[in-house]
Amino acid sequence: MCDTGYSVKQLVDDLRDLAREGRDDAAMAGAVPDLAKRLVLMKHNWLRSHMCVAGGGNAAGIYALHEEPDHSLAIFVVTWLPGDETPPHDHGTWAVIAGLDGHETNHWWKRLDDGTTPGHADVRRAGSERIDAASIIAMTGEAIHSLHNDSGAVSTTLHLYGRNVDYTDRHKYDPARHTIAPYKLGVTTRAIVSSQEAP
Ligand SMILES: [Fe+2]
Repeated sequence: MCDTGYSVKQLVDDLRDLAREGRDDAAMAGAVPDLAKRLVLMKHNWLRSHMCVAGGGNAAGIYALHEEPDHSLAIFVVTWLPGDETPPHDHGTWAVIAGLDGHETNHWWKRLDDGTTPGHADVRRAGSERIDAASIIAMTGEAIHSLHNDSGAVSTTLHLYGRNVDYTDRHKYDPARHTIAPYKLGVTTRAIVSSQEAP
């Protein structure tokens, strides 16, 4: 079939259909990449330069394409400057990341401790892969990853989440200090709530 015009609105409709079916985290992480890929292929129709502005100071520039009133089905365009990186973190919901422009590196992390000591976590890197316009990664809520724009140029990616990650129980990890702590972006939340749905 010739895909002539998949849009953010069509993606949202398809995500709503999947969510209504009551699919769990793993099923959503399995199904959403194909939808994200269709939207990436149509980026010339909807991606605009004002959506791709980096935050600066190691803060992602985040443009919200969509978020349901209950904060579910959040879709963001995320832009990083060269050198920007996140700490290892989980999301507390399924997540899908697709490259749009430029490239960056995704690192996977594995938790080695049993989680019984509050505030303590031992995580170790467990693989890496490049994210560019030809690649999509997906993960369930407990998966741990970090992103690093090690490309030397601006990198922009499409992020889809089962729920806006400022409204989930998610964590960041410090591999050197062996700690785990809540991970909220705060500033991001205000930008998301005030944004409008894109075409
Ligand atoms: Fe993440």
